[in-house]
Amino acid sequence: MGKSKHITWHASEVTKSERQQRNQHKSAVIWFTGLSGSGKSTISVALEKALFAQQVHTYRLDGDNVRHGLNQNLGFSPEDRKENIRRIGEVSKLMADAGLVTVTAFISPYKADRDAVRHLLDEADFIEVYTACSLTECEVRDPKGLYQKVRSGEIAEFTGVNAPYEAPTEPEIILDTETLTVEASVSKILDYLQKHQYINTAQV
Ligand code: ADX
Repeated sequence: MGKSKHITWHASEVTKSERQQRNQHKSAVIWFTGLSGSGKSTISVALEKALFAQQVHTYRLDGDNVRHGLNQNLGFSPEDRKENIRRIGEVSKLMADAGLVTVTAFISPYKADRDAVRHLLDEADFIEVYTACSLTECEVRDPKGLYQKVRSGEIAEFTGVNAPYEAPTEPEIILDTETLTVEASVSKILDYLQKHQYINTAQV
């Protein structure tokens, strides 16, 4: 329970459904999860661009970026990661209510935290996308040089090395980023969104 007392919910007179109708697409939270270096940020950037090009109202929330502002007071302890994901879940809920297709790229290592976001949102809004990639391959890529720092002892509690990563058991979409190109990964997600009628590219 929160700390605030004597607070009242004020309903808006513009509904989520009216916003979706105007946007000509449904709301969605496309929730990437995977190890650092597995492709979450790269694919989410390309996906946001592709959606935007198709007239979709979209916005991307990325772990590294959000930790510069909203979540700058959080580190990488299990408690802080939980709070990180809780806050992003709440932000995503607001964005879904605003009619947007939100793309999130957070390691989100704990299944319980991801499931909490799934249950926070309207059922159809949450689309879990697992960027599956072995630790070995992530270490070879090491786009930010972080695995090297972990191995030299400069970074502690790093996901996949000395902090846990719980892979999703039933994600809506799995991207094997060791074999798929970025373009193929984006296509796979766009196909899913069309097939499940989140977006209808024939209309735009
Ligand atoms: S999460 O675990 O809380 O979901 P989040 O996605 O916000 O993580 O941030 C992960 C990013 O922070 C990584 O891509 C990496 O650039 C950076 N980072 C710095 N320290 C760590 C660490 N100990 N574990 C994981 N990522 C870290």
